[in-house]
Amino acid sequence: MPYIIGLHSAASAFLSAGFATQFTVAIVICLVIVLVTSKPSTSAGSSLSLHRSFFRQRYDFLNWGFQVTGESIFQFKLMNNTVIVLSGSSARQAFFYSKGFDLTEGFKILSGAIPMVRGVTSGLQTKRISTIHRRLAAVQKNAPLSELIPAILEDSRRMMESYGATGTFDPFDKTYELIFQTTVRSLSSSEISDDAVLVARLKMFTTPATVLAPWFPTLSMIKKLWATKEIYDIVVRAIDSREASGIARNDTLQMLMDSGDDKLVIVGFIMGLIVAGARATGTTASWLITFLGGHVDWQLKAKLEMENLLAEHSDSTSASLSCRLAEIPLEAWESSTPIMDSLLRETLRVAQPHTAMRRNLGPDVYINDKLIPSGAYVVYPFSDVHLNPDIYPEPLRFDPSRKPATKVDLGYVGWGVGNTTCLGTRLAKLELKLTTALFLLGFDWHVVDKTGGVPDSLPLPNWNDILMCRPPPGSCNISYNRTELAL
Ligand code: HEM
Repeated sequence: MPYIIGLHSAASAFLSAGFATQFTVAIVICLVIVLVTSKPSTSAGSSLSLHRSFFRQRYDFLNWGFQVTGESIFQFKLMNNTVIVLSGSSARQAFFYSKGFDLTEGFKILSGAIPMVRGVTSGLQTKRISTIHRRLAAVQKNAPLSELIPAILEDSRRMMESYGATGTFDPFDKTYELIFQTTVRSLSSSEISDDAVLVARLKMFTTPATVLAPWFPTLSMIKKLWATKEIYDIVVRAIDSREASGIARNDTLQMLMDSGDDKLVIVGFIMGLIVAGARATGTTASWLITFLGGHVDWQLKAKLEMENLLAEHSDSTSASLSCRLAEIPLEAWESSTPIMDSLLRETLRVAQPHTAMRRNLGPDVYINDKLIPSGAYVVYPFSDVHLNPDIYPEPLRFDPSRKPATKVDLGYVGWGVGNTTCLGTRLAKLELKLTTALFLLGFDWHVVDKTGGVPDSLPLPNWNDILMCRPPPGSCNISYNRTELAL
């Protein structure tokens, strides 16, 4: 980043200062920037510069933009940045394959969900990011992924035991909490994941404040920045105490340390990937449990699939479910669960409210004759394809028996396509299958509304909630009974 002459030495001093100093200075700068720039933009396109809507009512806002402009591509101003919104098959193709479109740069400004702390959640050098991605690939090789199976199942058993024999819960809290735990287990250390208080604090960090805009330091944003520092300290303490003890453990932290990575890579790996991973996986798990609670036919089909897997791979019929499920090899989880695969695919299509974000790092490009200048931000809402009635009739209807969309190119982008595909797919799918399998065999359940009654129809995913598609709190609960099988 170029620094203005004269400010160069101050910038260098800032960058070489400790985290706490950077953090405090960053907050003060944030406040000043907001005071100076908080009047609405008057530049071209400002009639669409509804910052609040972009962060709080994104689905409605983007649809409104397409409607009022009558175009399949429109632009608006977000503070002083040009943001271009794309739709349609050829634009989708160009978006996912344009070489100059950069995910990290786009995410930094447009995400609005994560506090950006230089060197921790932003500003990581490309080299560090690619090391983090390489380590993520290493965690998902056959041997380490197989070793995670009993650990994920044991976490799930422990948490599901606490539900008791019967009751109700909000899946967007409870199921998310479960996935958060299994994600922390998979991506950090045994010391952190065994400590419920630390895990709860990590969860607080990744559950975003109500964000007006990423640079708007509302009180909750500032609290979250402090939380980021706390979490940073937690991870660094875990590294230091592991180093000091000299005792090696069999977990992801050990793999990172044995690879000789510096602290920033390890902290970036744990914090960044928990954010990237737990949210999308937690959202999917919460909706999957909800959909299965309203579609008993699919619940029974999925249960049968799991019973068949157990019959094939586990001899110890008297052992607990989690122990028996742990006997099923990774290969079977990955290639012998067609029902579960179609459930996941449909859940992602209907209830993953992702908007892909990029910055054009150059050169200028044209998409459908529309100029995307170098430096502009570009977004592609997944709703454009996943909720398109021409591709998926009655798009909000959950129907895992749908055939893959073959009428259009890139008719399904649930795990990303082109230059950017999800690098955590194997882990995410495994976590989803293991946790759902234990719930399927250990519980019978259905959806109830606020009053405890069975609703006439399931709540629809709310795409304006950019994180979880969460329906109004309280409108959807899971009412469950334990089966007779020991977890
Ligand atoms: C159900 C769970 C998940 C879903 C649906 C999902 C989906 C996606 C999608 C659609 C993208 C591409 C985004 C874009 O094009 O803008 C992506 C990227 C990514 N995902 Fe996932 N993801 C999930 C879980 C995870 C997990 C558990 C991890 C890590 C442990 C992870 C790590 C990543 C990373 C690092 C990228 C960025 C790749 C890059 O920069 O090239 N994801 N994910």
